[in-house]
Amino acid sequence: MSSIADWATPNPVTENRSGLIGKAVDRYEGPLKVTGTAPYAYEVEAPSPPVQGAIVTSAIARGRVAAIDTAEAEASPGVLLVWTHKTIPAQGARGARINPRSQRPSSPVMDSDEVRYFGETVAFVVADTLENARAAAALIKVTYDELWAVVDFPASLGLAENPPGEEDVRIGDFETAFAAAPVTLDETYTSPIQNHVQMEPCATTAWWDGDKVTVHTSIQMVKGGQHALAETLMIPSDDVHLLTRYIGGGFGGKGQSYDDLSLAALAARELKRPVKVAYTRQQMMLGTIHRPATIQRVRLGATPDGRLTAFALDGYTHCARDALFTEHFANFARSLYAAPNRLTGHKLVKMDLPGAGPMRAPGEASGMLSLEVAMDELAEKLGLDPIQLRLINEPERDPETGKPFSIRQLARCMNEGAQHFGWDRRNPKPGQVRDGRWWVGMGMAAAIRADYLLPAKAGARITADGTITLLQGMTDIGTGTYTILAQITAETLGVPLSQVRVEIGDSNLPPAPGSGGQFGASTAGSAALDAGMKLRVALAHLAVGDPNSPLYGASPDLVTFDDGKIRFGNQSEDLSTLVARAAPEGVYAEGSISPPADRRDVSLHTYGAHFAEVGVDMDTGEVRMRRMYGVFAAGRILNAKTAKSQITGGMIWGVGTALTETNSVDPRYGSLINQDVGGYLVPVHADIVDLDAVFLDEVDDKANPMGIKGVGELGISGAGAAIANAIYNACGVRLRDYPMTPDKVLAGLIAAGL
Ligand code: MOS
Repeated sequence: MSSIADWATPNPVTENRSGLIGKAVDRYEGPLKVTGTAPYAYEVEAPSPPVQGAIVTSAIARGRVAAIDTAEAEASPGVLLVWTHKTIPAQGARGARINPRSQRPSSPVMDSDEVRYFGETVAFVVADTLENARAAAALIKVTYDELWAVVDFPASLGLAENPPGEEDVRIGDFETAFAAAPVTLDETYTSPIQNHVQMEPCATTAWWDGDKVTVHTSIQMVKGGQHALAETLMIPSDDVHLLTRYIGGGFGGKGQSYDDLSLAALAARELKRPVKVAYTRQQMMLGTIHRPATIQRVRLGATPDGRLTAFALDGYTHCARDALFTEHFANFARSLYAAPNRLTGHKLVKMDLPGAGPMRAPGEASGMLSLEVAMDELAEKLGLDPIQLRLINEPERDPETGKPFSIRQLARCMNEGAQHFGWDRRNPKPGQVRDGRWWVGMGMAAAIRADYLLPAKAGARITADGTITLLQGMTDIGTGTYTILAQITAETLGVPLSQVRVEIGDSNLPPAPGSGGQFGASTAGSAALDAGMKLRVALAHLAVGDPNSPLYGASPDLVTFDDGKIRFGNQSEDLSTLVARAAPEGVYAEGSISPPADRRDVSLHTYGAHFAEVGVDMDTGEVRMRRMYGVFAAGRILNAKTAKSQITGGMIWGVGTALTETNSVDPRYGSLINQDVGGYLVPVHADIVDLDAVFLDEVDDKANPMGIKGVGELGISGAGAAIANAIYNACGVRLRDYPMTPDKVLAGLIAAGL
C-alpha cells in the first residue's frame, strides 16, 4: 500500500535534470491545429464515403409526442433514413447496465414518446448530404400533448429540497453567533444559466466492421463514452472502439456523450455505411448540459477587528428532473476562511429543463461569485482593506475538517499580487477616480479550487529507432495534455522531446479518467511517469543482460538515462542502438497511479488572488476591462506556456461571467433564449486588455508523485467577483446579480443619482 510519504522520494520529474519540466514548450499538436489539419471527430476520414445525419428537437418542455408526420421528409431528395420514437431500433433501457462495471449506463435516444425538455431529440434524418438531411429534417411535422412544465427557477423555490443524501453542514451554532455578531452582512447573490459554448460542437463519425463499431467523437472521458455507447447498443464494450484525438473545447460539457454518438452508430449499422452526426450551435445550447442558475445567500458575522465569528453560504440551484446534479456552490467555502460557527448547504429544484451539469470549476466558479463579493462588502463595513480582512481570517488548518493543508500560499498570492498590481493606489472610497467619461476602480478576490487525483494507467513503448511513444486513453480538450505528457515522458527517459510521440484519445489504450475537475495533468501525468519508470527498468535489465551491451553485467539499479543514452559509470550506448540490437520488436511497459488512502488526510487545494481594474462608462453603464492580474499557487508547473494559457483562459471566463454571459428560460416554452454566440456573449479579444498571470514557485509533494496540481479550473474561480468588486470601487454601484450588464449598472447609477 502506497502512501503520500513515498512521493518525497525524488523521481525524474522532480529532479528535472534536462530542465524540460516547467519549460514553455510549444504545443505538441499546435502545428496541426493552426494549419487546420488536426482531424476533429466530424472531419475524420471514414473508410468509405459517409452520409450525414440531422437531428430534429422538441418544441415543448414537457409532454408527449402526439403525432409525427415524416412522409414529406422521407420523400425528400437524398434521404436514406428517417427515425422517430416509433421506428428507431431497440436500445438498452435508460440507465441500464448489462456490464455492471460500465462507467456509464445506457442512454437511449427517442426511447419513448415522452418529451422531457425543450430541445430533446424527437426525430432523426440521414441523407446523402448535410444539406439534404437538414432540408428533410425541416419537413418533419411534430404535434404534442403538452403538460405543465416547471421552467421558472425563481418562481419554483417552493419545490426545492436538499440534494439526495446531502445535509446542510453545520459547525458550532451559526444562528446564535450571527445574532450576537457586532458587525454583520446578509446579502443574496444570483448567477444565471451559462452555456459551455465549446468551439467544436458535439459530433460523431461512426462505421461498423462486422459486429464492431468505430466511433470518432468529441468527448472528455474515453471510457465513459465507450461504455455508454456499448450499453445503449447492447453490445460488449470491447466491440466499441472510441476515438477522440482532438477536441475543440470541453469545459465539462463533454464529460458525457449525447445523442450524436448513439445516432451515428445506430444509423451506420442500419445503413451499412459511415455516418456523421453533429449538433448545430442551437442544439448545443439547448440539448447539452448547462451550468445551472444559483440564488446564494451569504451571511457573515464579525468582530469589529474583522474576525469572522459566523459564516453561512446557502441557497438554491436547479437540475433536470431525471438527471440529478448539484452545483455545489457552497462546498469550497468549507475550506476557505476560519470562523467557529458555520452553515453551508444547497437546495435543489428539479425542473423540466435540459440537464444541468458540470462546467469549468463546478461549485467554486458559481460560489465564489457570492462569497468573494460579500467579503468585499464586509471589509468596507469594517473599514478594512479587503486583503487585510482575508488575511485576518486565514485558517491554520482546514477550518471544517481540521486537516492540515498540504500547502497553502493564499496569503502570498494576495500580497504579491497586490504589490505587482499597485493595489496601494486603490482608493477605498468608491467613485473617486475618473478617466474622461470612465469611472475607474479596482477590485480583488481570492481563488480556491480543489485538487483531485484519480486512478489511471499508461503505457510507454520504445521502438528500434529510439522513438518513445506514450500511450494512454486520455484526452486533450485544448488544455495541453499532449504536450505535458510528452515532457514527462522525455524527462523520465532522458531523451529529447523530438524523440517522443504521444498517442491518446483511444479506448484501446491503457485507461485514464480523461479531462475534468482539473485532475487531468496530475492523474494522467502520474501514470505516464510510472510507465516511463517501468520502461527504464525494462531497458536497464535489457542492457545489463545483453553481452553485446557496454553495460553488460552492471547493476540495473545504478543505470541512468540522459541525452538519449543509457549509462553506467563511463559506459553508455544510445537507447536506439540497444533496442535495435537486443529487442528489435521494441520494449513496452505499463504504469499506473492510484491515490493512496492517506492523501485524504490532507486538505489539498490550489489557490490564487485575482486583481481587476475596470472602467465604467458614466453615461451608458458599460463596463470595460482595463487590467487584470492573477497570482496563483498550483504546485509545480509542468509547462509555463500551457499552464498560463489555462489560467488566463479561466480568468477570461471570469470576465464573461461578470459582464456578459447569461442564458434565460423563456417561460412560455421552457426554451433557452440565447441559442447562438450572437446572443450568448463570450468575451472576445477586444474585451480583454492587459491580462497577465503568474504562478508562485511551489511544490505540493502531498498531491501526487510530481508535486503538481491542476490549473484548468483555478483561473475562473473568483475571477468574476474581482470584477464585480472593481465595478463597485469604480462607481459605487453594488450589483449582486450576474452578469453586470450595462442596463443593471445604469439602473444603479440612476438610483444613486449619478
Ligand atoms: Mo469539469 S467542469 O469537472 O469537466
